[in-house]
Amino acid sequence: MRKPIIGGNWKMNRGTPKESKKMLESLILLVKGIKSVDIVICAPFTVLTTIYEILKNTNIKIGAQNMHFEEKGAYTGEISPTFLKDIGVEYVILGHSERRDIFNESDALINKKLKKALSMDLKPIVCIGEHLEEKEAGKTNDIIKYQINETFKNLTKEEILKTVIAYEPIWAIGTGKTATPEQAEEIHIFIRELLIRKFDKETANSIRIQYGGSIKPDNAEDLFNKRNIDGGLVGGASLESDSLFQIIKAADKTYK
Ligand code: 13P
Repeated sequence: MRKPIIGGNWKMNRGTPKESKKMLESLILLVKGIKSVDIVICAPFTVLTTIYEILKNTNIKIGAQNMHFEEKGAYTGEISPTFLKDIGVEYVILGHSERRDIFNESDALINKKLKKALSMDLKPIVCIGEHLEEKEAGKTNDIIKYQINETFKNLTKEEILKTVIAYEPIWAIGTGKTATPEQAEEIHIFIRELLIRKFDKETANSIRIQYGGSIKPDNAEDLFNKRNIDGGLVGGASLESDSLFQIIKAADKTYK
């Protein structure tokens, strides 16, 4: 049994203390009592401390959207995993396609961050996924295989078990074009097969693989009904408490 996980990735779209507080106070009431879904809000760095105060003693966990691969040093503008741990952050998104594409993050860099996050007991949510041109050229599987091999290089079984994978086809992010449940499930099965080859069946079957890309209240349940889709990483629809709650409810309902 894999417990579904719903991550709200606010990106740079929500993050003032006032608006964050309003959204979260409403969400806390809505999700009170939900036990079969891990709920994580991944907010901008500047509001994480505020959020910690609001979310402590609730069933909503805190995530960051990125981190540096060193604990300290001359890295102007970067955020250390130590700082995140110190303020109660539990999860961290790594290798989001926006980090890969806009900020040129490579698989090797993401691998370094991943190793560091794991060594510090932060729970990584690692994103992988193909561009539209790659999909249209029939290269999706090659891209996924490459990303799994490089991003998860030298990971032990114990480490991969603590990692959440988010399959986010880039053509579906923020576009309103969701992968169909069948398309997403096919890739999730492929990812699990790669993990079986890299680790073993039992390990692969225990790893949570989220889907991400235009998840909305009206398509969430069909996606989460698929055997290999263990929740989702939600962008736009995570900004409002009502829509995020509908998606969390869908994950709760389809818990397999
Ligand atoms: P949207 O849900 O807005 O498509 O964003 C998905 C995403 O990038 C989550 O990390």
